[in-house]
Amino acid sequence: MGGARPPPLRTHRNTSHSAGKCAKIKPVDVLRFHTPLTSLSVLILAAGEGTRMKSDLPKVLHSVAGKALVEHVLDAVAPLGGGVGVVLGRGAEMVKERLSARKNVSFFIQKERRGSGDAVRPAARWLERRGGNVLVLCGDAPLVRTETLRALTRLHRREKNAATLLTAEVPNPSGYGRIRREKGRPVAIVEHKEATPAERDLREINSGTYCFRAIDLLEGLRRLRPDNAKGEYYITDVIGFLVGRGRSVGALCLADGDEILGVNNRRELADAGQRLNRRTLDRLMDEGVTVVDPATTYVDATVRVGSDTVIEPQTFLVGATRVGRHCRIGPMTRLINCRLADHVYLEASFGESARVETGARVGPWSRLRPGAVVGRDAHVGNFVELKKTRLGVGAKVNHLSYLGDAVVGARVNVGAGVITCNYDGHQKHSTTIGAEAFIGSNVNLVAPLRVGAGAVVGAGSTLTKDVPAGSLALERAPALIKRGWAKKRRAEKTGQTHG
Ligand code: UD1
Ligand code: MG
Repeated sequence: MGGARPPPLRTHRNTSHSAGKCAKIKPVDVLRFHTPLTSLSVLILAAGEGTRMKSDLPKVLHSVAGKALVEHVLDAVAPLGGGVGVVLGRGAEMVKERLSARKNVSFFIQKERRGSGDAVRPAARWLERRGGNVLVLCGDAPLVRTETLRALTRLHRREKNAATLLTAEVPNPSGYGRIRREKGRPVAIVEHKEATPAERDLREINSGTYCFRAIDLLEGLRRLRPDNAKGEYYITDVIGFLVGRGRSVGALCLADGDEILGVNNRRELADAGQRLNRRTLDRLMDEGVTVVDPATTYVDATVRVGSDTVIEPQTFLVGATRVGRHCRIGPMTRLINCRLADHVYLEASFGESARVETGARVGPWSRLRPGAVVGRDAHVGNFVELKKTRLGVGAKVNHLSYLGDAVVGARVNVGAGVITCNYDGHQKHSTTIGAEAFIGSNVNLVAPLRVGAGAVVGAGSTLTKDVPAGSLALERAPALIKRGWAKKRRAEKTGQTHG
């Protein structure tokens, strides 16, 4: 287990080279600069319409890798400290509700969608009051990493810039704002629609993430005019304005464009999900987990897995799931918010809000529903469903059983086809089975019911009475045997006299 360590940041930087081409910079040059990140605000723009999602849900609430898009961004900025503002538009109430548990987040409403520059305006007073620097990000770009944002902020402070852009060189820059440079420094962002053919050839693009000195951003915003192809107030125009005023503008150029990808439609949502998943799997593999087939294994960023655990193909680990060391999980398994200790073997099974203790074996084809606890070295086998049921140490429920609202003692053996009849149509009732009891096959335990320690319940019984410890309980009509009856009947039906 342990915290995520991101791969080294690969960046280029903007100084001392010709326009449009980024020079290489070693990551340490950026990360070595330990300026404290005080007086930093973060503003996440999330008021876009998200029309292309064709959804009732606001775009930033769509989930990938277990979290809403905007939650990925919020988690990436959280370690930077400072106050966070989120600008919302359509579906603002839904977004606010989803994020209500988060502390230090202020919400601003952009009533009409009039461009990315206009989106900052509802937060203008907040920014003015806070002063210092502000990191501006898009709420629909879930791949951005904390380390990159740290590097951007540090570069901004080191160069004492009015604005520092996060950019990337990409093979296909179409649709993005291009970075125009002079003498190596960025001088303007030109939106695709307004770009000249020569500018369209520039491969360095604007990510939509920036660090501004708050007063410079606010001053720039006041000068914006919607005199462009879309008739919108572009935040990107602030860059040209600041350069025109002789203020210093810099850029951190990423060698890898993946991190700045935004989500505008469902295809991009799936693409972002895949990239985030691969990032999590890579982290797990770096931490000593074997992932047999990354292409068919899906693990949320929130999941933790211990070293020397093997994850087999077609396995989904979701939400707050925790898996210990030396486990073997899958194939064909889905675990939601489950906790597995060490040395657990869990094959082809589903689990939700369940716990499995050290050395236990589950599956194939088991279902652990909320509140299931599989004790140390216990076995749960094929077609067994457990709900709010605690299996003691070494207990065995190996075949075709349903146990609900039950407490099963240590080393109890539950035979094939045993059912706890826990629901009377109105209420749930509990079943308690003492240690080392033996429940024969095809038994119905009609709850509420107690079976004492060491008791034996005979196969086929439907029990409605408690069984004292050490006793035998049997509920079974005596078998009727009629010698020769079958033979005689066959003879009557077919005329045969033997066989
Ligand atoms: C923007 C940039 C472009 C950059 C690209 C990166 C502008 C003018 N251009 O273009 O240079 O390459 O992002 O993805 O900013 N928003 C609001 N309210 C609005 C309009 C936008 O909150 O009225 C938010 C959106 O939710 C989004 C961000 O601002 O988070 C950017 O807006 P978007 O419309 O996506 O701009 P792009 O055309 O993608
Ligand atoms: Mg966009």
